[in-house]
Amino acid sequence: MTSHEREVLLISGPNLDLLGEREPEIYGTETLASHVATALAAAARYDLSLRHFQSNHEGDLIEAIHAARGTAVAIVINAGALTHTSWALHDALAAFDGVIIELHLSNPAARESFRHTSVIAPVADGVIAGFGALGYELALTAVERCLEERAKGAS
Ligand code: DQA
Repeated sequence: MTSHEREVLLISGPNLDLLGEREPEIYGTETLASHVATALAAAARYDLSLRHFQSNHEGDLIEAIHAARGTAVAIVINAGALTHTSWALHDALAAFDGVIIELHLSNPAARESFRHTSVIAPVADGVIAGFGALGYELALTAVERCLEERAKGAS
C-alpha cells in the first residue's frame, strides 16, 4: 500500500493555533506548526501521509471528521477544551471507522477537575497525554501499531 492510500488526519481544536504564546508554562513554547512538522516526519517514517486541519469552530471540526470517512485510515485529534464537552464530536468520531487517537500536550488528569472527563475517549482506540511535543510522535507510532493490529485481525 502506498502512503497515498494511507492518510492520517491530524485535527487540532480551539486555541491550539495560539500554541507558542498561550500558557507556555503548560503547553510549552513550540508552535502548532512545529508539532505538525514533528507529526509529518513521524508519519513519513511509517509510510503514512498526513493532513492537518485546525479550527476554533466545533462545526468545522465535525465536517472535517465527516470528510475523513472513506478517505483517511486514522484520525489523531487534540480537540482542546471540546474534549471535555462535545458530544457532537464524540458522535462524529463514532461514525468514523478508522483508528482514532486522542492526543493532549498536557496531562488533563493532573489539572482542574473539569478536564478530568473526556467525552472523546470512549470512541478512541487510546489516549496520549502529558508528553508535550513527543506526543505527536507517539501518536503516529500508535496509529501504525493499531493499523497493524487491525490488518492482523482482518486476515
Ligand atoms: C489540551 C488540554 C485541554 O484541557 C485544553 O483545553 C487544551 C489543550 C492539551 O493539549 O493539553 O486546549 O487538549
